[in-house]
Amino acid sequence: MTANFFDDLHDDNTPPTYRWFDGAKWKTSVNSHFIPVVSPIDHATLGRITVVTHGEIDTAIANAHLAQAAWADKTVMERGKVLHLAADWIREHESYLTTLLVSEIGKPTDEAKDEILRSADMIDYFAHEALHMKGEQLPSDAFPGYDKSKISIIERVPLGVVLAIAPFNYPVNLSVSKLAPALVTGNAVIYKPPTNGAISGLHLTQIFRKAGVPDHVLVAVTGSGEDIGDYLVAHPGIDMITFTGSSQIGKHAAGIAGMIPLLFECGGNNPALVLNDCNTEETALEIVKGAYSFAGQRCTAIKYVLGLSPDIERILPRVVELTKQKIKMGDPRSPETKSVGPLITESAAKEVEARILAAERAGAKIMLGGVRRGNYIEPTILDYAKPDMEIVRIETFGPVVSFIRVKNMEEAVEIVNRSTYGLQAAIYTADEGTGIRLAQKLHVGTVWINSKPQRGPDHFPFLGIKGSGVGVQGIGYSLEAMTRLKPIVLNKPQ
Ligand code: G3H
Repeated sequence: MTANFFDDLHDDNTPPTYRWFDGAKWKTSVNSHFIPVVSPIDHATLGRITVVTHGEIDTAIANAHLAQAAWADKTVMERGKVLHLAADWIREHESYLTTLLVSEIGKPTDEAKDEILRSADMIDYFAHEALHMKGEQLPSDAFPGYDKSKISIIERVPLGVVLAIAPFNYPVNLSVSKLAPALVTGNAVIYKPPTNGAISGLHLTQIFRKAGVPDHVLVAVTGSGEDIGDYLVAHPGIDMITFTGSSQIGKHAAGIAGMIPLLFECGGNNPALVLNDCNTEETALEIVKGAYSFAGQRCTAIKYVLGLSPDIERILPRVVELTKQKIKMGDPRSPETKSVGPLITESAAKEVEARILAAERAGAKIMLGGVRRGNYIEPTILDYAKPDMEIVRIETFGPVVSFIRVKNMEEAVEIVNRSTYGLQAAIYTADEGTGIRLAQKLHVGTVWINSKPQRGPDHFPFLGIKGSGVGVQGIGYSLEAMTRLKPIVLNKPQ
């Protein structure tokens, strides 16, 4: 059943060549250029993706514009029905999609399954929430000099053709978080999955298609960022961009996108502040969970811990112990593996290793791990790290957490606030009042008190400031971001 459902996506070769979806048909590009998708687990080639041409992109965007108006004309109930069916099919194919996701990005099986099921829940929630979107009506006599003659009827309307660019670390969930709100609000979507994650993303496209997204309303283009990224981002036919990726690519994309709305989730480099009254066990456990899930390849992962020396000396040994107990590096297909599988590529792992070794040379002490084997990095804990070390200063997409000893909490706040990132932070304290006051001083999107940072629950607002992004995601917030206000003013002199 599952195999037939996804048959159109590829040819019969082993490994297969995957097609792109032009909005109506699965096609191999006229280009003869292909990119292999290699599993980070054993470097097996899972398939190859076709690199679409600029001409094919032009045609797909033009067709999407033509199709979008009719899609927006459907009722929100009709569009929601398509989403609910897509959610049902994701659940029905969960096991197949989980296995694919594990092999494509090396995510441990339990976390991959969570990603798939969370995506189905998210789609349902978007469809429900869209039913409650509403505009407003404003009278003119609330401003000096105006009588009651004008009434502004303010509707929410779709933006047009949305470009959705998804990252490798959540190729299903961070695609759904873009596709579902864009589609249910009546936009057409040009979707570009990541290279590692493209096969999962194409499967997701097929699910939406078979659930009833009409011709040319959803297009899936494949190719590398270098081949087609800039062309898509700067394309005059794109009305809005929703993107998740590195701060570096985000800044570049924002620079060439032109005057269109942007919803960007970029790098995070999230600190945990440990106060002298925090519960040692609970704090250590949250730090372990926060640092290592999906081998630290999450924008919301805890990257460094700030505290006074006595508090670090109290908490760090428990973090080391709990890491040894709860985190198990290994093949992500094995149920024995806990959180830490391979990094996405060997060059990514080499970069993490280089930063660990540079930190050690500069005076940091490796308390656990620090070893690379191929594209695996052992869960690593550093003590005596400094804010100017690369491993702390730049988001390190790997299973590493660095402890920094500060003189006082003012210094901790200063370190967080001078970072070029501003996604999330965590504060651990027994006194919620102190936690809230400290949270108010931190220049980041969200502060968690006594919890690891994270994106969900998915209806909470999720945003980054500074290099960490622009715009607000979260179910209702993403629906707003994919629409604009359309005031129609009625002038009826009395
Ligand atoms: O990598 C960025 C994701 O938005 C993180 O999501 O907190 O659910 O792992 P998560």
